[in-house]
Amino acid sequence: MTVYDPIPPLPIRIVARRFGGWHVSITRAAPPVQHLKQSYDAVAPRWDRIMRRTDSRAAYRALLAADVGVARLPSDAPVLDCGAGTGALSLALWKIRGGPQGQVACDLSAAMRDAARAAFRAHGARIGVDAGDITALPYADDRFALTMAAHVCEHLPDPVDALAEMARVTRPGGQVLVVMTRDGLAGRLIQARWATHVVTPDMGRAIMRQAGLTRVTSRAAPAIGGLARRSVVLSGYVPDAGARV
Ligand SMILES: C[S@@+](CC[C@H](N)C(=O)[O-])C[C@H]1O[C@@H](n2cnc3c(N)ncnc32)[C@H](O)[C@@H]1O
Repeated sequence: MTVYDPIPPLPIRIVARRFGGWHVSITRAAPPVQHLKQSYDAVAPRWDRIMRRTDSRAAYRALLAADVGVARLPSDAPVLDCGAGTGALSLALWKIRGGPQGQVACDLSAAMRDAARAAFRAHGARIGVDAGDITALPYADDRFALTMAAHVCEHLPDPVDALAEMARVTRPGGQVLVVMTRDGLAGRLIQARWATHVVTPDMGRAIMRQAGLTRVTSRAAPAIGGLARRSVVLSGYVPDAGARV
C-alpha cells in the first residue's frame, strides 16, 4: 500500500512554475493559529516601534484618506478592524473621521490587545477591543458598515476563509478593505520570516471575488516608509440584500 505524506490544505506557495507539461512548486505550511498567537504575543512590546520605523501609521492614514468608500462613510457607521495589532489602522481611521462612536478592533493575541488598549487610551480614542479570530469573528451577521484588516489575511492557510468571515459580519452594501503583503523583494523577506502569502494585485482581486465580494478593486499602498513596496490595498463590497449568495 502506498502511504502519502499528509499535505496541509492550501499551504503557502513559495514558487510555482510550469515547464511544458511539468508543474513545479515549492510550498510551506502556514503556522498553526496557536503558534501565531504566541509569536505575536512575543513581538507585541516591540510592534509599535516597528510600525514607527516603517512609518506605517502615516501610510495607513494616507491610504484610508484616499479611499472613496471611507470618505463616504457616515460618522456614526460601525467599523471593525480585524487583527488590529497595536491599533495603527483603527487609530488612523478614528483620526480621519474625527473621533466617531462605534469602532471596534479585535485580535488573536492578548498582548497585542493590551497594547492597542493602551494606544487608544493615550490618544483618547473610544475604540472597543475584543478577543477574536478573523476566521470565526465573535459578531453577528451584517453588523458593520466597514470591515478592515491590514497584514492579517496573508497569515492564514486560505485567506479566502478570513475574507468570507469579514463579509459575513459586514452589512449588505458595506465595504471590506484589506491590506495584504505584495509579491516582491520586501514581501519575500516578510514571507521568509513569517511564512505569509504574498499576492499580486490580480491574485488579491481574485481572492476577494472568491469570498463573494463585488466591485472589487486593488491599488498600490501610498509610498510612505516602504509600505507601497510591500502592500496591496484591496477593496470590495458585500452584495446588496437579494443579490447575496
Ligand atoms: C502583521 S500584524 C498587523 C497588525 C495591524 N493590523 C497593523 O497593521 O499594524 C498581524 C496581526 O494579526 C493578528 N492575527 C494573526 N492571526 C490572526 C487571526 N487568525 N485572527 C485575528 N488576528 C490575527 C496578530 O496577532 C497580529 O496582531
